[in-house]
Order: sequence, then C-alpha cells, then structure tokens
Amino acid sequence: MLVSAKEMLNKAREGKYAVGQFNINNLEWTKAILLTAQENNSPVILGVSEGAGKYMGGYHAIVGMVNGLIEDLGITVPVALHLDHGSYEGAKKCIEAGFSSIMFDGSHYPIAENIEKTTELVKEAAAKGLSLEAEVGSIGGEEDGVVGAGEVADPKECKQIADLNVTMLAAGIGNIHGKYPENWAGLDFEALAKINEAVGNMPLVLHGGTGIPDDMIAKAISLGVAKINVNTECQLVFAEATRKYIEAGKDLEGKGFDPRKLLAPGFEAIKAKVKEKMELFGSVNRA
Ligand code: G3H
Ligand code: ZN
Repeated sequence: MLVSAKEMLNKAREGKYAVGQFNINNLEWTKAILLTAQENNSPVILGVSEGAGKYMGGYHAIVGMVNGLIEDLGITVPVALHLDHGSYEGAKKCIEAGFSSIMFDGSHYPIAENIEKTTELVKEAAAKGLSLEAEVGSIGGEEDGVVGAGEVADPKECKQIADLNVTMLAAGIGNIHGKYPENWAGLDFEALAKINEAVGNMPLVLHGGTGIPDDMIAKAISLGVAKINVNTECQLVFAEATRKYIEAGKDLEGKGFDPRKLLAPGFEAIKAKVKEKMELFGSVNRA
C-alpha cells in the first residue's frame, strides 16, 4: 500500500538519516527501485516528474503500475508515490489520480503567489492524507523542462512556507539538477543552517542529489535534510550498462535482442546505484 511521506520523513529527520527519492520512467525503473528498497528494508519515495508522467501514459497508469507492483512483488516497506516539481494543475491531477505525496514547485512565482497556491494545495492534500512538499529559492539547472536560476532560499520565506503546514520543504542552497560543473562552489551550508533554524523540525529536501560528495551529504543530513532526490545518476548508469551490452554485440547473440534481456543490465545497474545511495543516506533497515 502506498503511504504518505510524512511519517517516514519525520522519523528520518529525528534519526539523522535521509530517505531517497528516486525518479521513475518505466516499469523496469520502478521494479528495480521497489525491489532494492525491499531487499534493504528501506523506506523509499518514487518520484514522477510531469514529463515522465506524460511519457508513462498518465498519472492513473502510474498509480496502477506502482500499486500492482507493490502487491505482486510483495513489497512491505513504506513506499510513497510522489509528484516531483509539480505545477498547480499537475498537483491537482495527481491528488485525484491516487498519488500519496505531492510536490508543488511554486518557486518561480513571487512569494505571495507561492504562499497562496501552496496554502490551497496543503488543504487538498491534507484532506486526503497526502504529504506535500513546497519549494523556496530554486534549484539550478534543468530537469524535464523545469528550469531554475539556482537562487539560495531566504530563511524568512522558508519559515513563511513551512508555517503553512507543508510536510517537507525544498530550499535552494546552491544545489543543481544534473551533473555538477567542475567549478561548482558546493552546497551553501551557512544558508542551510539558517533555514534549518528557521523551520524548526520540518524535514528539509535536498534536490540535485546526483554527484554530491559523501561528506556534503552527511553534513546536509546533520542540518535537517531528511529527503534526498536522485535522478540523473540512475539515468547515467542505466545508459552506460545498456551501451556496454550493445557495444559487446550481446543484442546480436541468440535472443539478446529480447527487451527482457536487452534491458536487464540497465535494470541491475539501477538496483546497484539505489542500494549505494540507500547505504549512503542511512535508510537501510529503517523501514
Ligand atoms: O527532483 C529531482 C532531483 O532533484 C534529481 O536531481 O537529477 O540532479 O539527481 P538529479
Ligand atoms: Zn529536483
């Protein structure tokens, strides 16, 4: 059964570890992440961007697939199905379709409008027992058409949004979607410390989890981060494993072209990457 992300994130914040949000794109991705969570007795959040939602056929199709896999694979660890960087309209659609968690990314609106829209969605999500993530400041780079300037969040604005009773808060702290550039200045821990102080016990969310060094992950967790989003890193290992298989000519041997064989190395690569992240974030055996 899908659950809201509230309990798992409050427990993570309290226990000083983080739950990974891993974005899904298709059945292989979803199955790999769910099985890895189960094998490692870890809670997990499946992230769905609006672009990936469209790609998979729509939000109802995704809810059906995820619920079906949870049942058929015997998944018993807590799983949240979460809209990632949702628009106001997208959030409403996912609440209706049966997601258990929503991110409304109002970071590109003036703060008053972000507050207004977040307030309304908090009400709708709470009425259905869903968790809601809001964003202040912005994440640099681009993810599935969502482009951010990389503005570091203002702690006062973070408190204003946290006070709306959101479940968790994503704050821009110099993090970037996709690969980090060579000259990246690193996470802004001074800003994170101030935000953490301003929002009390609210679980904070670190986007752009791909390629953040281990010591920065540990420091971020010590400063209130309880959810870390990883997307690009799974895509990179999937592509690399698939390329190796094809370059070795394995798709031409026997029935190597069968999609169940062709996609297997990528599937295993995602499993290994997700396990590595769960160990790094400290969520193993926390289900
Ligand atoms: O919202 C999703 C994430 O922030 C993923 O970022 O692709 O850099 O890992 P990433
Ligand atoms: Zn993100």
